[in-house]
Amino acid sequence: MNANSSNNSNPDSNKNSSVSDSSTDASITNTTVPQSAANGQGQQMWGGRFSEATDSFVAAFTASVGFDQRFARHDIQGSIAHATMLKECGILSADDVAIIIDGLQQVLREIEAGEFNWSIALEDVHMNVESRLTDIVGAVGKKLHTGRSRNDQVATDIRLWLREETDNIIALLVRLQSGLLDLAEQHTDTIMPGFTHLQTAQPVSFGHHVMAWFEMLYRDTERLVDARRRINQMPLGSAALAGTTFPIDRTITAKLLGFDGICQNSLDAVSDRDFAIEFTSAASILMMHMSRMSEEIILWMSAQFNFVQIPDRFCTGSSIMPQKKNPDVPELVRGKAARVFGQLMTLLSLMKSQPLAYNKDNQEDKEPLFDCVDTLTGSLLAFADMLPNITPNIEAMRAATMKGYATATDLADYLVRRGVAFRDAHEVVGNAVALGIKEGVDLSDLSLAQLQQFSDAIGDDVFDYLTLEGSLAARDHLGGTAPNQVKQAVINGRARLKAFA
Ligand code: ARG
Repeated sequence: MNANSSNNSNPDSNKNSSVSDSSTDASITNTTVPQSAANGQGQQMWGGRFSEATDSFVAAFTASVGFDQRFARHDIQGSIAHATMLKECGILSADDVAIIIDGLQQVLREIEAGEFNWSIALEDVHMNVESRLTDIVGAVGKKLHTGRSRNDQVATDIRLWLREETDNIIALLVRLQSGLLDLAEQHTDTIMPGFTHLQTAQPVSFGHHVMAWFEMLYRDTERLVDARRRINQMPLGSAALAGTTFPIDRTITAKLLGFDGICQNSLDAVSDRDFAIEFTSAASILMMHMSRMSEEIILWMSAQFNFVQIPDRFCTGSSIMPQKKNPDVPELVRGKAARVFGQLMTLLSLMKSQPLAYNKDNQEDKEPLFDCVDTLTGSLLAFADMLPNITPNIEAMRAATMKGYATATDLADYLVRRGVAFRDAHEVVGNAVALGIKEGVDLSDLSLAQLQQFSDAIGDDVFDYLTLEGSLAARDHLGGTAPNQVKQAVINGRARLKAFA
């Protein structure tokens, strides 16, 4: 077998590959299989019991450094805490640990400066960092791996990284929700048709509709905050699977790394990826919500609805049709939801049937998780700016509400209050709507005499109830669309959001 020649023969390909949080696709061309490995001499850190070097194709195939270099900062953070704990527990000397920590900091500087040579023969971020440490500080660097394994190391790195990304995502969600509260506050009295089956149902406040979006996002935030509690548990100290023979103190490392707790079983700790699945399922529900909001904006921007505009910066034109302003950002977010759902399926399928404890399968957890985080973060960044800046076309929304007999239920409720049984009232209003359709007018445009032919319970005050404003104002209870209820919902929303600040 041959390694992809671009991976091991291009002398320039190992230069300047830097770690940046925004790069998911740290390209495998940024890494090299050094000639020594490709020639069969090997430079693996675990090569002691092997009689021949890893096939160069296998080295490239099994390596994760092309993508897990994204964890470099967290890997080094974890190593510094581990070394500090080894010192505190008297397992390594203070002098050795001081040298190791200095060396690790230099490795981090090299990585951040883009001066680090990533090597495929060194398989993953963990061994690349450790090997470079030993280059810098000499043999003492080889002591760092005392009492740990890459199995607990990688599980720790993912959690440290995902904790940070989750905090970033929660902050974006809070920003988006506070923008929605402002938008809803401006439009408590703006009237639009509320839909069921995408048919005009009853008039609602546009602010009320925006607050429905707020509620969806609020639950998403709660889910992520809850998921974070289980992300933030420390596997380190579980070593390969069974723990270590050294007298370690895991509470020291957990405290240094800001973990809320310590994984209680070493076998579970190195193999558990529930937290990644939980994160991805919370992300999937959130993307599902954003796809629903996108769909509404896309419909509302069409000439047929003409309910809203979004700023030009979120749209593109057509190269052939000069009149077009396409809602690209909401369309793309709607499409990207599919990717995140796919990553959830990938992670569930990855974990299905895996026996305890660590298996190499788990290396496949990273790319789906990275893609999920990047897709979600990008979508939220776009939404946090776009959604609070949509402008409703107030007149067009009002005209659309007038068209669909949206106050029919109000007329039925009016009759019920006058002693007519609801089912009979329903029938009366059905007849009145049929007349309106025949005459081409709204219920409020029918004369009193025309309405009274269907029921003598109708009095001349009926028109107060057939106005859009009257219809909204009448739904005056917690969760209803009356403008003063929407104002209160905004106030409550601001207070509730403080829980995440
Ligand atoms: N690169 C591996 C991963 O991402 C690290 C752990 C490897 N452990 C092992 N025993 N091969 O999962």
